[in-house]
Amino acid sequence: MSLAYEEGVEFDASGSVKVRVPAKINLHLGCGPLRPDGFHDLTTVYQAISLYDDLHVMRADDLTLTIEGEGAAALPVDEGNLAIRAVQALAAHTGHEPLARLHLTKHIPVAGGLAGGSADAAAALVACDALWGTGLSRDELAKIAADLGSDVPFLILGGTALGTGRGEQVNPVLAGGGWHWVVAVADGGLSTPEVYREIDRLRDLGIAPRPAGPPDQLLAALRQHDPAVLAAALVNDLQAAAISLRPQLRNTLRAGKDEGALAALVSGSGPTCLFLAESSEHASLLATRLTGRGVCRTVRLAHGPVPGARVFA
Ligand code: C5P
Repeated sequence: MSLAYEEGVEFDASGSVKVRVPAKINLHLGCGPLRPDGFHDLTTVYQAISLYDDLHVMRADDLTLTIEGEGAAALPVDEGNLAIRAVQALAAHTGHEPLARLHLTKHIPVAGGLAGGSADAAAALVACDALWGTGLSRDELAKIAADLGSDVPFLILGGTALGTGRGEQVNPVLAGGGWHWVVAVADGGLSTPEVYREIDRLRDLGIAPRPAGPPDQLLAALRQHDPAVLAAALVNDLQAAAISLRPQLRNTLRAGKDEGALAALVSGSGPTCLFLAESSEHASLLATRLTGRGVCRTVRLAHGPVPGARVFA
Protein backbone atom coordinates (compact mmCIF):
# COMPACT_ATOMS: atom_id res chain seq x y z
CA MET A 1 0.00 0.00 0.00
CA SER A 2 1.36 3.44 -0.82
CA LEU A 3 0.44 6.36 1.33
CA ALA A 4 0.88 9.90 0.08
CA TYR A 5 0.91 13.10 2.12
CA GLU A 6 -0.79 16.31 1.05
CA GLU A 7 -1.21 19.33 3.32
CA GLY A 8 -0.43 17.11 6.29
CA VAL A 9 -3.22 14.72 5.37
CA GLU A 10 -2.47 11.05 4.95
CA PHE A 11 -4.34 9.66 1.95
CA ASP A 12 -4.13 6.58 -0.13
CA ALA A 13 -2.74 6.48 -3.66
CA SER A 14 -3.12 2.76 -4.33
CA GLY A 15 -6.85 2.37 -3.74
CA SER A 16 -6.41 0.31 -0.60
CA VAL A 17 -6.06 1.12 3.12
CA LYS A 18 -5.55 -1.16 6.14
CA VAL A 19 -6.55 -0.07 9.62
CA ARG A 20 -5.95 -1.87 12.91
CA VAL A 21 -8.27 -1.08 15.82
CA PRO A 22 -8.09 -2.26 19.44
CA ALA A 23 -10.69 -3.55 21.90
CA LYS A 24 -11.54 -1.44 24.96
CA ILE A 25 -11.94 -2.27 28.60
CA ASN A 26 -13.34 -0.08 31.38
CA LEU A 27 -11.09 0.27 34.43
CA HIS A 28 -13.80 2.30 36.15
CA LEU A 29 -17.40 2.21 35.00
CA GLY A 30 -19.70 4.39 37.09
CA CYS A 31 -23.25 4.21 35.77
CA GLY A 32 -25.74 6.96 36.67
CA PRO A 33 -29.53 6.81 36.40
CA LEU A 34 -31.45 6.27 33.15
CA ARG A 35 -31.79 9.52 31.16
CA PRO A 36 -34.87 10.58 29.21
CA ASP A 37 -33.03 9.74 25.94
CA GLY A 38 -32.67 6.06 26.93
CA PHE A 39 -28.96 6.30 27.82
CA HIS A 40 -27.26 6.40 31.20
CA ASP A 41 -24.81 9.07 32.32
CA LEU A 42 -21.43 7.43 32.68
CA THR A 43 -18.16 8.27 34.31
CA THR A 44 -15.75 5.76 32.92
CA VAL A 45 -12.03 5.25 32.46
CA TYR A 46 -11.39 3.44 29.20
CA GLN A 47 -8.24 1.58 28.25
CA ALA A 48 -7.47 0.29 24.75
CA ILE A 49 -5.89 -3.18 24.89
CA SER A 50 -3.93 -5.32 22.44
CA LEU A 51 -6.78 -7.38 20.99
CA TYR A 52 -7.35 -6.10 17.48
CA ASP A 53 -9.67 -6.20 14.50
CA ASP A 54 -8.14 -5.44 11.09
CA LEU A 55 -10.09 -3.66 8.37
CA HIS A 56 -8.96 -3.63 4.73
CA VAL A 57 -10.80 -1.04 2.66
CA MET A 58 -10.57 -0.82 -1.14
CA ARG A 59 -11.97 1.53 -3.78
CA ALA A 60 -15.12 0.08 -5.38
CA ASP A 61 -18.27 0.96 -7.32
CA ASP A 62 -20.56 -0.07 -4.50
CA LEU A 63 -20.49 -0.53 -0.73
CA THR A 64 -19.85 -4.10 0.47
CA LEU A 65 -18.57 -5.82 3.59
CA THR A 66 -17.08 -9.29 4.04
CA ILE A 67 -16.01 -10.66 7.41
CA GLU A 68 -13.72 -13.48 8.55
CA GLY A 69 -12.53 -14.61 11.97
CA GLU A 70 -14.03 -14.50 15.47
CA GLY A 71 -17.85 -14.72 15.33
CA ALA A 72 -17.95 -13.73 11.63
CA ALA A 73 -20.87 -15.98 10.68
CA ALA A 74 -23.21 -14.28 13.17
CA LEU A 75 -22.51 -10.71 12.02
CA PRO A 76 -24.61 -8.69 9.55
CA VAL A 77 -22.88 -7.35 6.42
CA ASP A 78 -25.50 -4.66 5.64
CA GLU A 79 -26.64 -1.53 7.53
CA GLY A 80 -27.07 -3.78 10.54
CA ASN A 81 -23.28 -3.61 10.84
CA LEU A 82 -21.91 -0.45 12.47
CA ALA A 83 -18.95 -0.41 10.04
CA ILE A 84 -21.32 0.07 7.08
CA ARG A 85 -23.21 2.79 8.98
CA ALA A 86 -19.87 4.48 9.71
CA VAL A 87 -19.00 4.60 5.98
CA GLN A 88 -22.44 6.05 5.21
CA ALA A 89 -22.12 8.64 8.00
CA LEU A 90 -18.67 9.75 6.81
CA ALA A 91 -19.98 10.00 3.23
CA ALA A 92 -23.00 12.08 4.33
CA HIS A 93 -20.72 14.37 6.36
CA THR A 94 -18.14 14.94 3.60
CA GLY A 95 -20.33 14.77 0.48
CA HIS A 96 -18.28 11.80 -0.78
CA GLU A 97 -20.09 8.88 -2.44
CA PRO A 98 -20.39 5.97 0.05
CA LEU A 99 -18.40 3.58 -2.15
CA ALA A 100 -15.89 1.11 -0.71
CA ARG A 101 -15.18 -2.59 -0.39
CA LEU A 102 -14.58 -3.50 3.26
CA HIS A 103 -12.97 -6.71 4.46
CA LEU A 104 -12.90 -7.21 8.20
CA THR A 105 -10.74 -9.74 10.06
CA LYS A 106 -12.14 -10.11 13.55
CA HIS A 107 -10.21 -11.10 16.65
CA ILE A 108 -12.28 -9.09 19.17
CA PRO A 109 -15.07 -11.27 20.58
CA VAL A 110 -18.57 -10.29 19.43
CA ALA A 111 -21.03 -8.89 22.06
CA GLY A 112 -18.35 -9.45 24.69
CA GLY A 113 -18.24 -6.10 26.47
CA LEU A 114 -15.04 -5.20 24.57
CA ALA A 115 -16.72 -2.83 22.06
CA GLY A 116 -15.86 -4.95 19.02
CA GLY A 117 -18.70 -3.49 16.91
CA SER A 118 -17.77 0.06 17.91
CA ALA A 119 -14.12 -0.71 17.10
CA ASP A 120 -15.09 -1.73 13.56
CA ALA A 121 -17.02 1.54 13.14
CA ALA A 122 -13.99 3.52 14.33
CA ALA A 123 -11.78 1.57 11.90
CA ALA A 124 -14.19 2.25 9.00
CA LEU A 125 -14.16 6.01 9.70
CA VAL A 126 -10.36 6.19 9.85
CA ALA A 127 -9.94 3.91 6.80
CA CYS A 128 -12.42 5.68 4.51
CA ASP A 129 -11.10 9.08 5.57
CA ALA A 130 -7.68 7.92 4.31
CA LEU A 131 -9.05 6.07 1.23
CA TRP A 132 -11.09 9.05 0.06
CA GLY A 133 -8.56 11.68 1.16
CA THR A 134 -11.30 13.55 3.02
CA GLY A 135 -8.74 14.49 5.68
CA LEU A 136 -11.05 15.14 8.63
CA SER A 137 -9.46 16.14 11.92
CA ARG A 138 -9.58 13.70 14.85
CA ASP A 139 -12.21 16.01 16.44
CA GLU A 140 -14.44 15.91 13.35
CA LEU A 141 -14.12 12.12 13.19
CA ALA A 142 -14.95 11.94 16.89
CA LYS A 143 -18.16 13.92 16.30
CA ILE A 144 -19.34 11.51 13.60
CA ALA A 145 -18.20 8.63 15.82
CA ALA A 146 -20.33 9.85 18.75
CA ASP A 147 -23.51 9.58 16.65
CA LEU A 148 -22.64 5.97 15.79
CA GLY A 149 -22.18 4.74 19.37
CA SER A 150 -21.03 5.80 22.82
CA ASP A 151 -17.70 3.91 22.65
CA VAL A 152 -16.72 4.83 19.08
CA PRO A 153 -14.92 8.15 19.83
CA PHE A 154 -12.69 6.39 22.39
CA LEU A 155 -11.70 3.74 19.85
CA ILE A 156 -10.41 6.46 17.54
CA LEU A 157 -8.45 8.05 20.41
CA GLY A 158 -7.17 4.90 22.16
CA GLY A 159 -4.73 4.92 25.09
CA THR A 160 -6.35 5.51 28.47
CA ALA A 161 -9.09 8.13 28.69
CA LEU A 162 -11.83 9.49 30.89
CA GLY A 163 -15.26 9.11 29.29
CA THR A 164 -18.23 11.23 30.35
CA GLY A 165 -21.71 11.99 29.00
CA ARG A 166 -22.96 8.63 27.75
CA GLY A 167 -19.29 7.68 27.31
CA GLU A 168 -18.80 9.60 24.05
CA GLN A 169 -16.93 12.60 25.52
CA VAL A 170 -13.35 11.44 25.93
CA ASN A 171 -10.22 13.03 27.33
CA PRO A 172 -6.83 11.32 27.60
CA VAL A 173 -5.48 10.57 31.08
CA LEU A 174 -1.96 9.82 32.22
CA ALA A 175 -1.72 6.06 32.74
CA GLY A 176 1.80 4.91 31.93
CA GLY A 177 2.33 1.83 29.82
CA GLY A 178 2.49 -1.85 30.41
CA TRP A 179 -0.60 -3.03 32.28
CA HIS A 180 -1.02 -6.78 31.79
CA TRP A 181 -4.43 -8.39 31.40
CA VAL A 182 -5.78 -11.89 31.03
CA VAL A 183 -9.02 -11.87 29.09
CA ALA A 184 -11.52 -14.71 29.63
CA VAL A 185 -13.90 -14.89 26.67
CA ALA A 186 -17.28 -16.45 27.44
CA ASP A 187 -19.46 -18.66 25.27
CA GLY A 188 -22.01 -16.37 23.62
CA GLY A 189 -22.53 -12.66 24.21
CA LEU A 190 -24.67 -10.39 26.37
CA SER A 191 -26.90 -7.63 24.96
CA THR A 192 -25.68 -4.21 26.16
CA PRO A 193 -29.21 -2.67 26.40
CA GLU A 194 -30.35 -5.72 28.40
CA VAL A 195 -27.49 -5.31 30.87
CA TYR A 196 -28.35 -1.62 31.35
CA ARG A 197 -32.04 -2.56 31.86
CA GLU A 198 -30.97 -5.14 34.42
CA ILE A 199 -28.92 -2.66 36.46
CA ASP A 200 -31.97 -0.33 36.52
CA ARG A 201 -34.13 -3.26 37.68
CA LEU A 202 -31.68 -4.27 40.43
CA ARG A 203 -31.48 -0.64 41.58
CA ASP A 204 -35.29 -0.30 41.62
CA LEU A 205 -35.42 -3.41 43.80
CA GLY A 206 -32.73 -1.92 46.05
CA ILE A 207 -30.44 -4.92 45.57
CA ALA A 208 -27.71 -3.40 43.38
CA PRO A 209 -24.37 -2.63 45.01
CA ARG A 210 -23.77 1.03 45.89
CA PRO A 211 -22.84 2.98 42.73
CA ALA A 212 -19.18 3.84 42.21
CA GLY A 213 -18.13 7.34 43.24
CA PRO A 214 -15.84 9.51 41.12
CA PRO A 215 -12.82 7.70 39.63
CA ASP A 216 -10.26 9.62 41.74
CA GLN A 217 -8.77 6.52 43.34
CA LEU A 218 -8.44 4.81 39.95
CA LEU A 219 -6.79 7.83 38.35
CA ALA A 220 -4.33 8.09 41.25
CA ALA A 221 -3.60 4.36 40.99
CA LEU A 222 -2.81 4.70 37.27
CA ARG A 223 -0.32 7.47 38.02
CA GLN A 224 1.34 5.38 40.75
CA HIS A 225 1.83 2.55 38.30
CA ASP A 226 1.58 -0.17 40.93
CA PRO A 227 -0.61 -3.10 39.76
CA ALA A 228 -1.58 -3.97 43.36
CA VAL A 229 -2.84 -0.41 43.89
CA LEU A 230 -4.70 -0.47 40.57
CA ALA A 231 -6.27 -3.80 41.51
CA ALA A 232 -7.95 -2.23 44.54
CA ALA A 233 -9.35 0.64 42.47
CA LEU A 234 -11.00 -1.26 39.57
CA VAL A 235 -14.81 -0.95 39.60
CA ASN A 236 -17.68 -1.74 37.26
CA ASP A 237 -21.28 -0.81 38.17
CA LEU A 238 -22.56 -3.11 35.40
CA GLN A 239 -20.89 -6.19 36.88
CA ALA A 240 -23.84 -7.03 39.18
CA ALA A 241 -26.22 -6.84 36.22
CA ALA A 242 -24.02 -9.03 34.00
CA ILE A 243 -23.74 -11.63 36.80
CA SER A 244 -27.49 -11.49 37.42
CA LEU A 245 -28.09 -12.33 33.73
CA ARG A 246 -25.21 -14.85 33.56
CA PRO A 247 -24.62 -16.29 37.08
CA GLN A 248 -21.79 -18.55 35.88
CA LEU A 249 -19.61 -15.45 35.52
CA ARG A 250 -19.20 -15.65 39.28
CA ASN A 251 -17.27 -18.94 38.80
CA THR A 252 -15.04 -17.40 36.13
CA LEU A 253 -14.20 -14.41 38.34
CA ARG A 254 -13.58 -16.64 41.36
CA ALA A 255 -11.35 -19.00 39.35
CA GLY A 256 -9.16 -16.09 38.22
CA LYS A 257 -8.76 -14.86 41.80
CA ASP A 258 -8.03 -18.43 43.03
CA GLU A 259 -5.30 -18.73 40.39
CA GLY A 260 -3.57 -15.56 41.58
CA ALA A 261 -5.05 -12.62 39.65
CA LEU A 262 -4.55 -9.30 41.44
CA ALA A 263 -8.11 -8.37 40.51
CA ALA A 264 -11.05 -9.85 38.60
CA LEU A 265 -13.85 -7.88 36.98
CA VAL A 266 -16.42 -8.06 34.22
CA SER A 267 -15.46 -6.07 31.11
CA GLY A 268 -18.05 -3.35 30.34
CA SER A 269 -21.46 -4.99 29.96
CA GLY A 270 -19.85 -8.46 29.84
CA PRO A 271 -19.70 -11.37 29.59
CA THR A 272 -15.91 -11.16 29.04
CA CYS A 273 -13.99 -11.23 32.34
CA LEU A 274 -10.69 -9.45 32.96
CA PHE A 275 -7.88 -10.35 35.29
CA LEU A 276 -5.07 -8.00 36.22
CA ALA A 277 -1.58 -9.52 36.39
CA GLU A 278 1.64 -8.20 37.94
CA SER A 279 3.76 -8.69 34.82
CA SER A 280 3.68 -10.37 31.41
CA GLU A 281 5.16 -13.56 32.97
CA HIS A 282 2.47 -13.55 35.64
CA ALA A 283 -0.19 -13.02 32.96
CA SER A 284 1.07 -16.04 30.95
CA LEU A 285 1.04 -18.24 34.05
CA LEU A 286 -2.42 -17.03 35.01
CA ALA A 287 -3.73 -17.64 31.47
CA THR A 288 -2.43 -21.22 31.50
CA ARG A 289 -3.96 -21.93 34.89
CA LEU A 290 -7.27 -20.33 33.96
CA THR A 291 -7.45 -22.36 30.74
CA GLY A 292 -7.07 -25.50 32.86
CA ARG A 293 -10.07 -24.50 34.98
CA GLY A 294 -12.47 -24.68 32.01
CA VAL A 295 -14.53 -21.69 33.17
CA CYS A 296 -14.66 -19.86 29.83
CA ARG A 297 -14.53 -20.47 26.06
CA THR A 298 -11.03 -19.16 25.53
CA VAL A 299 -8.34 -17.19 27.34
CA ARG A 300 -6.32 -14.41 25.71
CA LEU A 301 -3.41 -12.25 26.83
CA ALA A 302 -3.46 -8.50 26.31
CA HIS A 303 -1.62 -5.39 27.41
CA GLY A 304 -2.63 -1.79 27.51
CA PRO A 305 -2.76 1.01 26.80
CA VAL A 306 -2.36 0.84 23.00
CA PRO A 307 -3.24 3.45 20.33
CA GLY A 308 -6.71 3.76 18.80
CA ALA A 309 -7.68 3.00 15.18
CA ARG A 310 -4.56 3.52 12.99
CA VAL A 311 -3.61 3.06 9.33
CA PHE A 312 -0.89 0.43 9.04
CA ALA A 313 1.16 -0.77 6.07
O1 C5P B 1 -24.15 3.88 22.45
P1 C5P B 1 -24.37 2.45 22.12
O2 C5P B 1 -25.05 2.28 20.79
O3 C5P B 1 -23.20 1.59 22.26
O4 C5P B 1 -25.42 1.93 23.19
C1 C5P B 1 -26.11 0.72 23.06
C2 C5P B 1 -27.20 0.67 24.10
O5 C5P B 1 -26.63 0.58 25.41
C3 C5P B 1 -28.08 1.91 24.16
O6 C5P B 1 -29.15 1.83 23.24
C4 C5P B 1 -28.56 1.88 25.59
O7 C5P B 1 -29.61 0.96 25.76
C5 C5P B 1 -27.36 1.35 26.35
N1 C5P B 1 -26.49 2.42 26.85
C6 C5P B 1 -26.93 3.15 27.95
N2 C5P B 1 -26.14 4.16 28.44
C7 C5P B 1 -24.94 4.43 27.89
C8 C5P B 1 -24.47 3.68 26.80
C9 C5P B 1 -25.27 2.68 26.30
O8 C5P B 1 -28.02 2.91 28.49
N3 C5P B 1 -24.20 5.41 28.41
